[in-house]
Amino acid sequence: MSSVKGKIDLQRLPVHVAIIMDGNGRWALKQGNQRVFGHQNGVESVRQTVEACGELGIPFLSLYAFSKENWCRPQQEINALMSLMVSTIDSELDSLAKNNVKLIVIGDIANLPTNVQNKLLNAITRTEKNTGLNLVIALSYSSKWEITQAALRLALDIKENKLPAGAITEETFSGYLTTKHIPDPELLIRTGGEFRLSNFLLWQLAYTELYFSDILWPDFRKENLYEAIIDFQKRERRFGKTGEQVKNCD
Ligand code: FPP
Repeated sequence: MSSVKGKIDLQRLPVHVAIIMDGNGRWALKQGNQRVFGHQNGVESVRQTVEACGELGIPFLSLYAFSKENWCRPQQEINALMSLMVSTIDSELDSLAKNNVKLIVIGDIANLPTNVQNKLLNAITRTEKNTGLNLVIALSYSSKWEITQAALRLALDIKENKLPAGAITEETFSGYLTTKHIPDPELLIRTGGEFRLSNFLLWQLAYTELYFSDILWPDFRKENLYEAIIDFQKRERRFGKTGEQVKNCD
């Protein structure tokens, strides 16, 4: 066991870790390569992170793989990212299935190329009965899109008398989000040295602990995840209460 891993309190693991995988482009450019090279190398970091979460017994891992805003990138980079999605599913699906990982995809899936949609649907179906790590991939996802869609569907249900307007609570609203069966993240990690949320899970991150790392995503390894979890475990989560109240509630 690595010495860093040994410092993790396995009784107090975050139920859900979400990651904004940033820095692929800069990693590649620093080496005089095309941005796509960074995305390709980012797959190994995805593999390591999935494996580490599975080994530790973290129930949910969410990865921000492609935002709605990413559709504005050069077409060549978009094509490369979509091909990478397909080839990664092809190369990793057996291993995900064998390791009891359940694949979940959130985002505007209908916007993805048909071959990517088909690959994803096949992988989701093949892993749907798995009971280990829930691996949530956000693809063509943005939080403002998700919240707007939820509001739209809620408004339609009210119009069709399926729900009285007075019944809207935080819980009912959460039930209209793509993450309705997923607990809110307890820890958000962003790599790549930027300090922003980039339209990722804005509703769900209301009380999440944020961890920012300068490491560029293709350099992210299991040890870096362990360090983030150790940092998370040192924090006092107050959820708006005083420190004293939190202690007395335990
Ligand atoms: C952000 O780095 C990264 C992305 C937009 C894509 C992330 C995709 C992968 C790691 C590929 C595989 C993913 C899965 C789930 C199979 P950036 O390009 O914005 O980097 P920069 O900030 O340095 O420009």
